[in-house]
Amino acid sequence: MSYNVIIGRNERDLKIYGDLATTQIGKQYIQMGNLTSLGNQILLDALRPHVILIAGKRGSGKSYTMGVIAEGLASLPTEVSQNITSLIIDTMGIYWTMKNPNYKEANILKEWGEEPKGFSNVKVFVPKGSFDAIKDQNPNMVDAAFSLTITDLSANDWSDMFGFSINDEYGVLINKVIEELKESGQRYDFKDIIEETDRQIASDTIKEACKQRFETAKGWGIFEKIGTPIESILTPGYINILDISLYAHSLGEFNLRALVIGLLSQKILELRTFERRSEELQEINSTIMLREESSKKQIPIVWLFIDEVHEFLPANSRTAATPALSRLIKGGRQPGIGLVIATQQPGKLDTDIITQSDLIISQHVTAKLDIDALNTVMQIYMSSDIKKYLMDLPKLPGACIILDDNSERIYPVQIKPRFTWHGGETPRSIPPPKK
Ligand SMILES: Nc1ncnc2c1ncn2[C@@H]1O[C@H](COP(=O)(O)OP(=O)(O)O)[C@@H](O)[C@H]1O
Ligand SMILES: [Mg+2]
Repeated sequence: MSYNVIIGRNERDLKIYGDLATTQIGKQYIQMGNLTSLGNQILLDALRPHVILIAGKRGSGKSYTMGVIAEGLASLPTEVSQNITSLIIDTMGIYWTMKNPNYKEANILKEWGEEPKGFSNVKVFVPKGSFDAIKDQNPNMVDAAFSLTITDLSANDWSDMFGFSINDEYGVLINKVIEELKESGQRYDFKDIIEETDRQIASDTIKEACKQRFETAKGWGIFEKIGTPIESILTPGYINILDISLYAHSLGEFNLRALVIGLLSQKILELRTFERRSEELQEINSTIMLREESSKKQIPIVWLFIDEVHEFLPANSRTAATPALSRLIKGGRQPGIGLVIATQQPGKLDTDIITQSDLIISQHVTAKLDIDALNTVMQIYMSSDIKKYLMDLPKLPGACIILDDNSERIYPVQIKPRFTWHGGETPRSIPPPKK
């Protein structure tokens, strides 16, 4: 006789909702003597947003697990999914494959009583500047173009992205330029920025260096006078994928990916904070006037997925993502934003981030620094306990322990296989032999 384990759900919600608004992400490992088998279903709470940290060494299944969670949320019944949206900021270009069935793992899916299945509620966005080229190459790969609004970037954002400090001569000049332009109250363009830079008093070398950076940024084709409204990448019931992987290697010192993450985090936080206020007002009114609480949200609860997050939130240095993303991790759940983040090195993340995670999925973490870091979230367990759980796990991809801060429990778990094709596998020199 097996019963389901719901991770992330508190006692009170369990009593009211039972296993409504949950989605299966795996099964629990059961140890009997030397024998390990799979037992209870592990269901993830989708009623409320969570901060889920996935940690593990390379190839242990972190990106795959993020895909399993996104698939799970996108498979919920309409009354739940209409109030949830997933946004994957895909910095490695491995999620656009989610419309395709996972034929390569059909045998594993069969063991789980499932079949490969492509998802139609998937929307892939790429930066406007590369949309046409990608669409020409493969029309099924992308759905829409995406751009950011230039006026949304602060002087700090530009400086962080260009690798300047707001206090060096470059940063100071950029600050003056942006302040001047903002004062006019109008929307501005690269042309206005460059003209304003010329008007400022500074040495020619500094001016030229800044202008050159802005020219380069213009060439990326991701900034526009009027960019994409944020709501259009938050379609309810959908997996929205923002593929910014093209910018991974080609930009040298510029961290555009961090800037995109930072700006979107800030916009989503603003939008949901505003929305949460009207939702609460509606809840109050419906209580007073005994009216039904409206069941469809204007702006859905957002689940934001960011892989290899240590690149954007390193412990001892700052990127363009740092301020907004840390704010989101620390205070995003209350206004209705969940986060699913993955890293190879939890020990190198800001410890605040680990303590803010209410669910930790740990896949074969071995370094002591990393185990100690995970342990900070559940001080009731000794790190030796966590180590023992990790050591007992079968050496399979997707085998993990889940630390649930809501119930203060640890579960050894096998994450389920993906319905959709998992991208990002390391290339082989020859195809696998035919069976
Ligand atoms: N839950 C799982 N079930 C079956 N295979 C898995 C599972 N998780 C990962 N794998 C396999 O392991 C490979 C590496 O996983 P991936 O998520 O890309 O690793 P990383 O931790 O480096 O992100 C995948 O291509 C897949 O074949
Ligand atoms: Mg990965």
